[in-house]
Amino acid sequence: MNLDWKNLGFNILKTDYNVRCVFKDGKWGELEVSSEEYLPIHIGATCLHYGQESFEGLKAFSGQDGQTRLFRHEENARRMIKSAQGILLAEVPVELFMEAVEKVVVLNKHFVPPYGTGASLYIRPLLIGTGPEVGVRAAKEYTFLIFVMPVGPYFKTGFKPVDMLICRDHDRAAPLGTGHLKVGGNYAASMGSILEAHNKGYASVVYLDAREKKYIDECGPANFFGIKNNTYVTPKSHSILPSITNRSLQDLALSMGMKVEVRPVELEELATFEEVGACGTAAVITPIGKVVDEEKNITYSFGDGIDPGPVTTKLYETLVGIQNGDQDDSFGWTKILD
Ligand SMILES: Cc1ncc(COP(=O)(O)O)c(C=O)c1O
Repeated sequence: MNLDWKNLGFNILKTDYNVRCVFKDGKWGELEVSSEEYLPIHIGATCLHYGQESFEGLKAFSGQDGQTRLFRHEENARRMIKSAQGILLAEVPVELFMEAVEKVVVLNKHFVPPYGTGASLYIRPLLIGTGPEVGVRAAKEYTFLIFVMPVGPYFKTGFKPVDMLICRDHDRAAPLGTGHLKVGGNYAASMGSILEAHNKGYASVVYLDAREKKYIDECGPANFFGIKNNTYVTPKSHSILPSITNRSLQDLALSMGMKVEVRPVELEELATFEEVGACGTAAVITPIGKVVDEEKNITYSFGDGIDPGPVTTKLYETLVGIQNGDQDDSFGWTKILD
């Protein structure tokens, strides 16, 4: 495959195959391979009208040994089940999800970016209500599919500090809403505020808790973390997505002899952190140089704004090292595909 691997963005790129499976009459059918990018569905499908859909995002990496590694795909399977339970989708069994991920990556193996390019294969599972309903109720038919594409860094700067804008005039999710699930409605609700931040020159937004605007929730499509006094601190909130990357970083921080605190984090506490960052499959670890609260006229700055801090750097190198096989995977997070 002849692609400009080092300059890939985070964009749709056609690959050879996707895999699909239909839930009908109360059971899942066969996993099918398709090279078609389109999906014919009924115009009354519940995913189109009522947002009855969930998606996932995970990655495969090439190692120096030429092998392809998947990172924690069982966790994505489990999270998709939680999303399905939250909005009444048919649940995709963990085994089916994992089989489908492994199959679609193997089928598109020559799209897995080579080791050392900084790129990876992004895997996008999608579960949608395809049965028609005109009343607000769950569909009887569902489609589960996965497509893949090689991607570069989500934030164009890569592993360099970015600036973030505090969002005070939108919420991506209600206090008792669906923010903890990976469902499309949360992302539709976030688009306006993210665009506004981009237009003002920020990489993304920092959402505050919807009830009081007192605590930090998360950063656009990534969780927030802060480092101080040898402690990794990350918000606890019902309206943020439980990030698999964040959980992995917590384990890594503990293994490095740090403390970990998962608790409500007040916005004002930002002033006390030595380093802060955003983390997620797409964002990997994106260091944050500045968080700007325009309404209150406060700017929180971290480090020199040019280089990532030492703890963030160590966490990043360890995570990426495990993902591409440079570091020992003592947690058993990766699966090598044949
Ligand atoms: C809103 C949101 N928060 C956090 C994350 C990070 O989660 P993960 O590390 O599992 O990719 C994502 C991406 O999946 C996201 O969309």
